[in-house]
Amino acid sequence: MLLTSLVAVTLLAHAASAATSFSPDKVLSTHASLLADSSASLAFSLYQRVAKEKDVENILISPVVVASALGLVALGGKASTASQVKSLLKAGKVKDEQFHAGLAELLSEVSDPVARNVTWKISSRLYCPSTVTFAEGFLKKSKKHYNCEHTKINFKDKKSAVNAINEWADKSTGGKLPEVTKDVEKTDGAMIINAMFFKPHWNEQFHHKMVDDRVFLVSRGFTVSVQMMHRTGLYDYYEDVENKLTVLSVPLAHKKSSVIFIMPLQAEPLGRLEKLLTRKQLDTWVAKMEEKAVALSLPKVSMEVSHNLQKHLGELGLTEAVNKSKADLSNISGKKNLYLANVFHASAVEWDTEGNPIDPTIYGLEKMKDPKLFYADHPFLFLVKDQKTKSILYMGRMVRPKGDKIRDEL
Ligand SMILES: *[C@@H]1O[C@H](CO)[C@@H](O)[C@H](O)[C@H]1NC(C)=O
Ligand SMILES: *[C@@H]1O[C@H](CO)[C@@H](O)[C@H](O)[C@H]1NC(C)=O
Ligand SMILES: *[C@@H]1O[C@H](CO)[C@@H](O)[C@H](O)[C@H]1NC(C)=O
Repeated sequence: MLLTSLVAVTLLAHAASAATSFSPDKVLSTHASLLADSSASLAFSLYQRVAKEKDVENILISPVVVASALGLVALGGKASTASQVKSLLKAGKVKDEQFHAGLAELLSEVSDPVARNVTWKISSRLYCPSTVTFAEGFLKKSKKHYNCEHTKINFKDKKSAVNAINEWADKSTGGKLPEVTKDVEKTDGAMIINAMFFKPHWNEQFHHKMVDDRVFLVSRGFTVSVQMMHRTGLYDYYEDVENKLTVLSVPLAHKKSSVIFIMPLQAEPLGRLEKLLTRKQLDTWVAKMEEKAVALSLPKVSMEVSHNLQKHLGELGLTEAVNKSKADLSNISGKKNLYLANVFHASAVEWDTEGNPIDPTIYGLEKMKDPKLFYADHPFLFLVKDQKTKSILYMGRMVRPKGDKIRDEL
């Protein structure tokens, strides 16, 4: 009797908590799974395009947030403007309602701060020219599915318009992302802005006191001074001798996701590794990883990176939305007077020592002897991969960490 009522109470409590937030065990819906998968595929082609852009150094792209921005375009779009979004996310057969609900479910699942134990602030805003009147239905649905705010913006005074955008980003990231852009070229259309702050909380923390000044080799003869954090632990690790690189997976708190680092053995420009980087190749590397003792050193720095993805999304298949003479975004305003002029995707990521306590008993283990070295003092690629949804939370590269230039020899 006592036992049954205890079970009943537990079940009730469980049901109550599941109703208020996504419990960690909630099974992802079929649509959300499909969108997690297609956003992960899209990540690689998008990354490759951004990487080829001139003057781009560090990269930070959140594929699940890109998918969510695309969802907003589908919500505002009609006819082929909307259907192109679905095709890009391989969701042509998914009904509208399930498409939007699936994207919403995916994003709330992976950004749930409690279940995930990481800090991830995501703010989205849709800016439209001041001549636009937002349709009531669009405002409601975009708030509900994409937690998106709406604002009209007047670019007559460009400087203050740009300032207003940057101030919003600064405020909504708690000061972590002070700037989305210095300028806006196309001021005659709709503009989606994602402003994010991500701080990994490691499954096992780095030693707070073992942070010291080291050098990071940006390129041959050009080094900057950075702080480095260190720890030794058991990690999934693979050295691809043929391709002269190492792959390392470091779990984030509760092992819900992990950061996969891909680093060349020697300092070199990342172009060679990027040519290898496909989803299939990543899966191959991941499958070959084995648990090894690794002495890990990472830059303890913050990165702020912003990309305008408008052109790239157009090249990847969103040809209508980005084209002024073709776009039909009339679900936003009731009129066919808008096109997608900008998609600013901006993140601040803080690499820090914080994490859950280390299990000290591992240091006595035989397998901790002779650790492999993973010393991240030169450019590397990384992905934050989610275990449950299989989505990619971030994909990027660190080429030039913030730090004082030490040497610049030619
Ligand atoms: C967009 O407009 C069409 C036609 O008016 C309507 O059928 C459709 O439901 C709208 N889409 C959304 C997402 O509101
Ligand atoms: C993660 O979990 C730990 C221990 O439960 C807690 O102390 C910490 O504040 C959490 N951090 C975040 C970012 O949720
Ligand atoms: C937009 O579409 C028109 C009509 O199909 C085409 O002529 C034009 O080249 C397109 N513009 C861009 C920027 O792709």
